Amino acid sequence: MANTEQILKMCDIPAVPMVAMKILRLVEEENINVDALQDVIMADQSLAARVLKMANSSFYGLRRNIDTVSEAIIMMGFNTIKNLALAVSTKDVYKKFGLLEQKLWEHSIGVSVAAGLLAQAIRFPSAEEATVAGLLHDVGKVVMNNSQPERFSLLTEMVYNDRVMFIDREKDMFGFGHAEVGGIFALRWGFSGHLSDAIRRHHFEAFDDLLELEPSTRNLCCIIALADAICIRLGVGYRGPMADLNLRDREYMELLEIGEKEFSDLIERFKQAYVEEKISYQM
Ligand SMILES: [Fe+2]
Ligand SMILES: [Fe+2]
Repeated sequence: MANTEQILKMCDIPAVPMVAMKILRLVEEENINVDALQDVIMADQSLAARVLKMANSSFYGLRRNIDTVSEAIIMMGFNTIKNLALAVSTKDVYKKFGLLEQKLWEHSIGVSVAAGLLAQAIRFPSAEEATVAGLLHDVGKVVMNNSQPERFSLLTEMVYNDRVMFIDREKDMFGFGHAEVGGIFALRWGFSGHLSDAIRRHHFEAFDDLLELEPSTRNLCCIIALADAICIRLGVGYRGPMADLNLRDREYMELLEIGEKEFSDLIERFKQAYVEEKISYQM
C-alpha cells in the first residue's frame, strides 16, 4: 500500500482556488466578519446561488425564505459556509471538462444528492456535510486523471472494455486508489478529518473497518458508500446501469437501519432531485 508521500509524488493535489481561500481565511479569524464574508460570496455568483439554495433547502426546514447571503451565513453557520465554498470550488478541478470529466462531475452531483436524501432519512445531524462528501467522494479520480492523463485513460479504457471494477485495476496501475487520493485531497483543502475519512472509505473494500469508527463518522461513510452504490446501479455518470456488481448495498442499508420500502421510495425521490440539481449547477 502506498503512503501519502508516494501518492503525492505521482499526484498533484491542486491548490485551493482564490475565492475558497479567502473564505477559509475569514472563517478562521477569531472575530469573524460576516460582512466581509458576504462580500466574498456575493462576488462569486454561482457560490452565492448555492449558499441561498442550501439555506432554503429542506435540510433546514424553515417556514420562511432566506433572501440574503448574510442571513444564510448566520443561519447555516461558518463551517457549513466553508464546506460549501470548498465544494463549489472543486468544479475548477475538473478543468479539462472532456467527456470523462463531464461523466465524473455528473456522478459526483448524483452521489451528493443521494447522500443528502439518505442523511435526511436517517436524521444524520449534518445533511449538508453528507452532500459535500458526496460531491467530493471521487475527486481522487480527477486528480489522478489531471496528474497522469495517459495512464488514467488506459485505466478507464480497460475498465470499460473488460467490464472490471475500477477499484481493482487502479491499484495495479497506480499502486494506490482514488479513494486514498481523495482523502488526501480533502485534508489538504481544509475539510475535516471526518469528511476525509468518509472519502477514503467510500468503497466497500473498507466495509469491515467501519465498525471500529465512532458512530457519526461510520454513518457518514455508510451514507457515501450507499449513495455511490445507488448511482452506480442507476448508471449515473456511467455508460449505463449496472445491476450485477457486488457493492454490499444491503449491508450498508442494515447499518443505517433503512428498510426496503423506505429505500425504494428514496430512489424514486432521488431520480427527480438529481435532475433538478444537475440543472442548478448549469446556471
Ligand atoms: Fe469511488
Ligand atoms: Fe463514485
